[in-house]
Amino acid sequence: MQTSQRIQNRAIAEKVVSAETAAALVSDNMVIAVSGFTPAGYPKAVPQALAERAKKGEKIGITLLTGASVGPEIDRDLTETHVIKRRFPYQNNKAMRDAINAGVIEFADIHLSHLPVWMKNGYFGDIDLAIVEAAQVDEEGRIYPTTSVGISNVAVRLAKRVVIEVNSAQPLSLVGIHDIYDVEKPPLTQPIPLTAPNQRIGLPYISCDPEKIAAVVLTDIPDSTVPVAPVDETSEKIAGHLIEFLHKEVSAGRLPRNLHPLQSGVGSVANAVLSGLVRSDFEHLFVYSEVLQDSVLDLIDAGKVDFASATSLTLSPERFPYFYRNIDQYRDKILLRPQEISNHPEIIRRLGLIAMNTAIEADIYGNVNSTHIGGTRLMNGIGGSADFARNAGISIFLTESTAKDGLVSSIVPAVTHVDHNEHSVQVIATEQGVADLRGLGPVRRAREIIDHCAHPKFKSMLESYFYQACERSKYKHIPL
Ligand code: COA
Repeated sequence: MQTSQRIQNRAIAEKVVSAETAAALVSDNMVIAVSGFTPAGYPKAVPQALAERAKKGEKIGITLLTGASVGPEIDRDLTETHVIKRRFPYQNNKAMRDAINAGVIEFADIHLSHLPVWMKNGYFGDIDLAIVEAAQVDEEGRIYPTTSVGISNVAVRLAKRVVIEVNSAQPLSLVGIHDIYDVEKPPLTQPIPLTAPNQRIGLPYISCDPEKIAAVVLTDIPDSTVPVAPVDETSEKIAGHLIEFLHKEVSAGRLPRNLHPLQSGVGSVANAVLSGLVRSDFEHLFVYSEVLQDSVLDLIDAGKVDFASATSLTLSPERFPYFYRNIDQYRDKILLRPQEISNHPEIIRRLGLIAMNTAIEADIYGNVNSTHIGGTRLMNGIGGSADFARNAGISIFLTESTAKDGLVSSIVPAVTHVDHNEHSVQVIATEQGVADLRGLGPVRRAREIIDHCAHPKFKSMLESYFYQACERSKYKHIPL
């Protein structure tokens, strides 16, 4: 790595230390906020050195704040070494999920748009240390993030001390794709002047008081992203139904021909839906989302998407090298913002977003569970799904109609845990069809969902439940 190019400020360059030395800044009971989002742009070397300290028998227990999920160097390794005691706001790692479900790690499922505000309000206590990944630190000591922004700007601003991992596996050409805009906490919050996904409202770097920079570590470890699951027949059917629904919206004059900006959640089904749009005849689309996955690049390559804004760029290991080789052709088509902006209700509502998120199960009245299997076993977390669903122009939930190899119906009489209630769920799509719940009361919603979304194998059971509920329930508004 050409250090002088990556770290242009001489005084900051003198702070370069080993990952072990930087990890020694961490002590028991600290609150630590790190960069990273699903899992892109997170620090790798310092967490690994911290795990090594714990493996040697040191007792270190921390509260960890991240933008969303981060890579195994943090969520797996610091769980297995018992370093993480409290973890907010989202994860998707098996070791960590098991530790949370075993009651070993304290976790709270927090809306991603809330987290930066909660940090500013001090709900987690003072932030002792921020550890952020950077592509470059310029002469003024300004930090240029890598493949995500997440909470980095807020963490750097609030933390008592800052450690920067300058990562040469992240190309310098990433400089310039970020748009950092800081939001003051209430009651000083001003209207956010963002009226289109491709608008810049901030600066391409995170400002940091150089005095706060306690250490800089040089690394070359790539983001540990995972390959994209191939699109299967069921997901393709869901995508097909959804595209048909969007066509009908255009025909009815409720959406323009290039739709409203799209948001897409995580998971294989969500990815398949975006992939399905590649083959559709929609053009000049905009994406205003949280995460940009391979499918968004496919849409840009196919000339379908004009611009995509998010807080993280989470490409598969196969796609990253291609992206980096061709970054110049994407430079004016993508932008990464802080999660406080990508997930901000004000913007989501203003843009009339079409939000597409994934459900574990949905009930016949339109409530959705996205997080807890059987109402009690945490899967990943709510992430940003509710930021989008609650405020979108059209809020769509996607799920296969069955789970566990067809043994379980994903359409149920009552969900076992409510993440998105009937007020935030407008459309449900499964491979069976689409239920459009807008303007329908609970009884008609139930009929719409059973008719269009339930698997034939479970339809008669659901119909029988609903019939009996209607017959026996004293209150006919929501017969249970
Ligand atoms: N009953 C029981 N288990 C179910 C189920 C159901 N109805 N539906 C799914 N599951 C289980 C699956 O069997 C699988 O379990 P396993 O890991 O033990 O095999 C697990 O849940 C995940 O299901 P899968 O079909 O692989 O889902 P996915 O990869 O498409 O992810 C969510 C689906 C809902 C878990 C995922 O989208 C998520 O975490 N969403 C919430 C956060 C979010 O939406 N973020 C984006 C906002 S921008």
